[in-house]
Amino acid sequence: MKRIFLIGFMGSGKTTLGKMLAEKLDYTFIDLDHYIEKRNVKKIAAIFAESGEDAFREIEHKMLIEVCSFENVVISTGGGTPCYFDNIEIMNNSGLCIYLKISNEVLLKRLQKAKEFRPLIKDKSDTDLACFIYETLSKREKYYTQASIITPNDEENPDEICNKLLSLIHTPANT
Ligand code: S3P
Repeated sequence: MKRIFLIGFMGSGKTTLGKMLAEKLDYTFIDLDHYIEKRNVKKIAAIFAESGEDAFREIEHKMLIEVCSFENVVISTGGGTPCYFDNIEIMNNSGLCIYLKISNEVLLKRLQKAKEFRPLIKDKSDTDLACFIYETLSKREKYYTQASIITPNDEENPDEICNKLLSLIHTPANT
């Protein structure tokens, strides 16, 4: 196993779990959003504001291809990464994809407190945010569910989820 991709909606815990998994596996952790910001010397919010979402998706796609050449890495992707171009195939072909599946209610609670740096939701009221989560997740589910491992991340604490994932990662089908 050389690459593990964590996929799922904004606020699903990809970064927290990604860091934990990387530490336990002794892999390098890469947050794709941070990688994009470093390589382009620009914050995600600035890319959206100056060039728009389509331009961001092109950059995200190119950066995904770059990180796919790294070995022994856990990569937490952006919420939209698997849903554009052939990104989900690229990830499935180059490593193990894990979908952190979270209910709309939990996502809403988490994202209400974490909108500021997320250009797609930063100006939304609570009602608009709830609609956005419902509509966007309905469209994205078909990409997310192409992951090899799907894990509910609602109730359990990150340590428990991490341990469960480690045992799944080490099953013969996923190694
Ligand atoms: C996005 C999610 C963000 C970031 C960008 C777009 C999305 O990443 O890539 O703001 O389309 O869901 P996180 O899922 O890490 O917040």
